[in-house]
Amino acid sequence: MTLLIVGATGTLGRQVARRAIDEGYKVRCLVRSTKRAAFLKEWGAELVRGDLCKPETLTEALTGVTAIIDAATSRPTDSLTIKQVDWDGKVALIQAAKAAGVERFIFFSILDAEKYQDVPLMEIKRCTELYLAESGLNYTILRLAGFLQGLIGQYGIPILENQPVWVTGASSPVAYMDTLDIAKFAVRALNVPETQNQAYPLVGTRAWSAEEIINLCERLSGKEAKITRMPINLLRAVQGFLRFFQWGWNVADRLAFTEVVASGKPLNASMEQVYTVFGLEQEQTTTLESYLQEYFGRIMKKLKELDYDKAKNKKQKNKKSPMKQSSKVNS
Ligand SMILES: NC(=O)c1ccc[n+]([C@@H]2O[C@H](COP(=O)([O-])OP(=O)(O)OC[C@H]3O[C@@H](n4cnc5c(N)ncnc54)[C@H](OP(=O)(O)O)[C@@H]3O)[C@@H](O)[C@H]2O)c1
Repeated sequence: MTLLIVGATGTLGRQVARRAIDEGYKVRCLVRSTKRAAFLKEWGAELVRGDLCKPETLTEALTGVTAIIDAATSRPTDSLTIKQVDWDGKVALIQAAKAAGVERFIFFSILDAEKYQDVPLMEIKRCTELYLAESGLNYTILRLAGFLQGLIGQYGIPILENQPVWVTGASSPVAYMDTLDIAKFAVRALNVPETQNQAYPLVGTRAWSAEEIINLCERLSGKEAKITRMPINLLRAVQGFLRFFQWGWNVADRLAFTEVVASGKPLNASMEQVYTVFGLEQEQTTTLESYLQEYFGRIMKKLKELDYDKAKNKKQKNKKSPMKQSSKVNS
């Protein structure tokens, strides 16, 4: 079976690639830059240069492909818009997959997308789900809430570096999940026939509010967070203002996502049936506590080692210092 992974250089995509390679799949990755994707080649994947927004590049990438796991999404740093990548690009990929006779298509959506039709990425995910379901391909949709990996940049690093941690007024609790666990489900779906033409929520063991995560980070790091509260109305005003300018559309579309986080409604779902269907154990899913414990434990150990090395170097320098030596001689 040749498995094509799209978005394999991303946070989730790389874990999907790793898992699939480890499970013995022949993995091909569609990448925009072979330089950025060099690590995937080292892991044993075949690289094919391509771009969702250049449909002519998809045909060659799909030759001989049995299944696709699509983990691509528009990058905030890219000039391409959410609509160009997550809608036009995905429609092109689904059409190309159908034409190439691909047998399975695994798609990552966002939990509760249908509840936020005014949020561009949510509406695009909802429409893509529908488009995929009507394409005639055998599909599995996995609806995600958030990644544990995202918490490091959002809370971990700012708290360790005494930088502000931004939170909106009422923040919705989110059931974050480790991308390694998400990857396990995505690859498993390829071998579980019951998952064909179905959509499942895929979320962590429980939902956490921003305040709870901050408290936990403070406890684990021994540092106090500098919390900066961003009023939701200010964000809405900025978003509305940016819509006046074409260059601001992409930023405005991303800011719209704060509506989801500030809605106060938890991004969470029951996973009982999902574990049963996929034949996986909830006990083996990484919890947010254990993930952050491991992260802070590693960083605090490193910081202690650095402090120790610094103190040792200072001591040695002082010993070698000619000033010290001469003062010793004179005394
Ligand atoms: N992050 C979250 O918290 C979250 C929550 C819910 C759902 N999801 C979904 O999970 C999936 C993975 O998200 P992620 O955060 O792991 O993504 P990510 O880290 O931002 O990575 C995006 C990937 O898409 C690729 N890509 C972007 N534009 C492309 C194009 N035009 N053609 C081909 N590839 C392109 C990027 O390649 P380059 O390296 O070339 O840029 C990169 O590999 C997405 O479907 C996302 O919507 C994410």
